[in-house]
Amino acid sequence: MQFNFKNPTQIIFGAGMLAQLGEVAGRYGKHALVVTGGGSVKRNGTFDRAIESLKAAGVSVTECSGVEPNPRLSTVVRGAQIAKDENCDVVIAIGGGSTMDAAKAMAAMVYYEDEPWNMFFSSEGTFVPPTRALPVITVPTLAATGSEMNSGAVITNEETKEKSFVNVPILFPKAAIVDPELTVTVPADQTAYGVCDLITHVTEGYFNGVDGTPLQDRWAEGVIQTAMEWGPKAVADGNDLEARTQVQWASVAALNGWVQIGTKAGYPVHMIEHTLSAHHDVAHAAGLAVVNPSWMRFAAKQRPERFAQFAERVFGVQRNGGGAEEAAREGIDRFEEFLRSIGCPTHLSELGIGEELIERYADDTLRIINDGNGNLPGRPTMTKDDIVNVLRAAL
Ligand SMILES: [Fe+2]
Repeated sequence: MQFNFKNPTQIIFGAGMLAQLGEVAGRYGKHALVVTGGGSVKRNGTFDRAIESLKAAGVSVTECSGVEPNPRLSTVVRGAQIAKDENCDVVIAIGGGSTMDAAKAMAAMVYYEDEPWNMFFSSEGTFVPPTRALPVITVPTLAATGSEMNSGAVITNEETKEKSFVNVPILFPKAAIVDPELTVTVPADQTAYGVCDLITHVTEGYFNGVDGTPLQDRWAEGVIQTAMEWGPKAVADGNDLEARTQVQWASVAALNGWVQIGTKAGYPVHMIEHTLSAHHDVAHAAGLAVVNPSWMRFAAKQRPERFAQFAERVFGVQRNGGGAEEAAREGIDRFEEFLRSIGCPTHLSELGIGEELIERYADDTLRIINDGNGNLPGRPTMTKDDIVNVLRAAL
């Protein structure tokens, strides 16, 4: 186990913390580009409260609204142009993962001189990482992606129907204002998807990482169990602020780097899902809920002990004389049942996706990322046929 880790994002956490936005943003700039999504932050009053706080601190505002789910490259380019035209010196994202990812990419696109799509990773050698970005402040209004406190952004090229990512240290937000009160109006289905997303961030590292990371294992199990305890409460009653608080903290911890530290894990489930949502514009975590259990059944054949550990520690599955394979299977079944119980889909048909393009999804996934031998990184690595079979099993 070897690692070199730094997460410089300041996190200001708790109900009511939105009021600190102006003071925090004022440390980094005087004219903010405020990036928002489809308008829910305006309907529920969050936007007005944020602007009030900024104005009180002497920070003026230019808006960039309308970031779509599965945020598009053209939106990133549009936002960066606004920031340049208006001389913005700080970028503030108020919204969910799409809004935050788009805002981070805009902050870097302001200075980017290459072709815009080259900012995002590709196995074809076109990737030119950004080296400079405006300071970013994140204000998540959904507990899900963990984007508020990490250096990643996922963007869709709507012309090529590709979805890729950038993950470089300059994209770490300066500060994340994580106020669970802002999530109480999130509808039940989106809340459930957030729970699925955060759990999947953790399972990727847990199942695909190197051996010999016992502390990271316990952290991962703790995040999953916390999400499974409080997630259903947040789904059942959106106004349960305690449940919202615990779910949101779990979502931050799931992808701010701690749980994955030193695991050197691939993210095969995310990589496959990104291709589905690039083609069909489905909710990211709805796609994950479909792909993850099917992928687990595939991977458990190679590492039954690892999946038996998951079953035993997370679900209390007893072996009762049965082998690791049997415990592994029961753990995965229980996990799938949990996803269904909070309202997540677990079959492609529920997303309106059939088998017509199944080979294309595999090809696209491997074009974005492969290990140099044409396989998808993970444990085990996946051939094109493996990806097709996992998707076929999820139809
Ligand atoms: Fe995710």
